[in-house]
Amino acid sequence: MTAPRSAGRSPGGPRPRTSYRCTECGGGSPAWVGRCPGCGSWNTLVEERVEQGSSGGSRRLRAVPTPSSPAVPIAEVDLTTFQPLPTGVQELDRVLGGGLVPGSVTLVGGEPGIGKSTLLLQALGGLAVRGTALYVTAEESLQQVRQRADRLGALRPRLLLTSETDLGAIVAHIEAVAPAVVVIDSIQTVFHPDLASAPGSVAQVRECAAALVAEAKARGVAVVLVGHVTKDGALAGPRVLEHVVDTVLTFDGERHHAVRVLRAVKHRFAGTGELGLMEMTGAGLVPVDDPSSLFLADRRAEVAGSVVVPLVDGHRAVLQEVQALVVPARGQAYPRRAAEGLDVNRLAVLLAVLRNHAGCDTSLAEVYTSAVGGVEIRDPGADLAVALAVASSLVDRALPPDLVVVGEVGLGGEVRQVQHAERRMAEAARMGFSRIVVPLLSPEPPPGITAHRVGNLRQALVLCEVGSRSPGPW
Ligand code: TYD
Ligand code: MG
Repeated sequence: MTAPRSAGRSPGGPRPRTSYRCTECGGGSPAWVGRCPGCGSWNTLVEERVEQGSSGGSRRLRAVPTPSSPAVPIAEVDLTTFQPLPTGVQELDRVLGGGLVPGSVTLVGGEPGIGKSTLLLQALGGLAVRGTALYVTAEESLQQVRQRADRLGALRPRLLLTSETDLGAIVAHIEAVAPAVVVIDSIQTVFHPDLASAPGSVAQVRECAAALVAEAKARGVAVVLVGHVTKDGALAGPRVLEHVVDTVLTFDGERHHAVRVLRAVKHRFAGTGELGLMEMTGAGLVPVDDPSSLFLADRRAEVAGSVVVPLVDGHRAVLQEVQALVVPARGQAYPRRAAEGLDVNRLAVLLAVLRNHAGCDTSLAEVYTSAVGGVEIRDPGADLAVALAVASSLVDRALPPDLVVVGEVGLGGEVRQVQHAERRMAEAARMGFSRIVVPLLSPEPPPGITAHRVGNLRQALVLCEVGSRSPGPW
């Protein structure tokens, strides 16, 4: 922390220097090139003007002298200041493993309109019961936020609002109010006065985040940064920000669908497996208490191409429907493959395995697949369900309605063991399914459900009555 602070932009002051920065990886380049030398992305370098002497130096605005303390034996480190502060928003606390940790920095990313401001205002309402909470609304007016807080039941005397975009003013507010928690909504609208580049640029976002991290650590305040994601799903300056913060949460779902999913991509204080499920209602976000019922509510079991799979995220098993629609390709050289809420590359692998190991050929067909409910599926245990949904649509025959399936599919067509098989079977039984197709080595099922063990995809297709060597009904 030795570099001098910028002395303004007078002729005698430091001259701005132009450099270029990649919006994908945050890597720098002294000259503009079409392809980022760091990550290989095309057309991602943007101009950035940096004041000489401002980069790499002290990121805190005020030089607050901190007395250096001696190193302490590890067992004597005090954990009392490390206790998470519960937000009272059940699903947020679940994902965080209890709440926001003092002195930590959490980045909440999501598309505009998904409900980030709503989530955090609700959380601040809960936190302000026990301590002072500061909400820096750099996007909405104070009146708008108050109106929203009214509806969310978050009007608390210790919830303080300010609408600032200058980082210096924000830090001054933090100093004046000494809150336990501060939310910056959003990091893309805040600007560091020492930098010439526009708010939202990679340089601004990175420097502002770094300055706020320094404030969080120095003052023990829990800082939450809201970050809008770009249309292709990346946070502005993603890698840079993910490195400087302690926790990265993503908040997603389909804007026109009520279900919202909160996940931890990175979390220094607990695991990242826990999933938060909420519904956007007129009175804000409410937890989804029975996700399986919600996801299966609109299901029509008699339609070909629909398969139910028990998935596990964190501590919870959830039944989800996977759908496929297979239609003739009408002579296109490369028939379309689409996967909504599923990995399209994984779909390509499964189609190849279906063709080579199960006699189910979709090479002349368009294949559309979808995870119903607006929730993205990452569990490899969904492989078998996706493969069976494709086969079912191809032969235009529905699976038996009392059946769910789970298993990972290998390149040799084998059905592989999945984690937490008992929990998955128990959830299927709870939801009234009487049969489950599982990998060979699965444990015994709980009462009320019968397990059908399969070693490979072909056996699964026969068992589910969708096996066929013919290319389909067309
Ligand atoms: P918002 O939190 O503003 O999203 P973001 O901060 O991610 O851009 O909320 C987005 C939408 O949520 C908005 O279109 C209105 C809707 N909404 C509700 O349906 N109910 C509510 O109680 C609130 C506060 C918002
Ligand atoms: Mg917002």
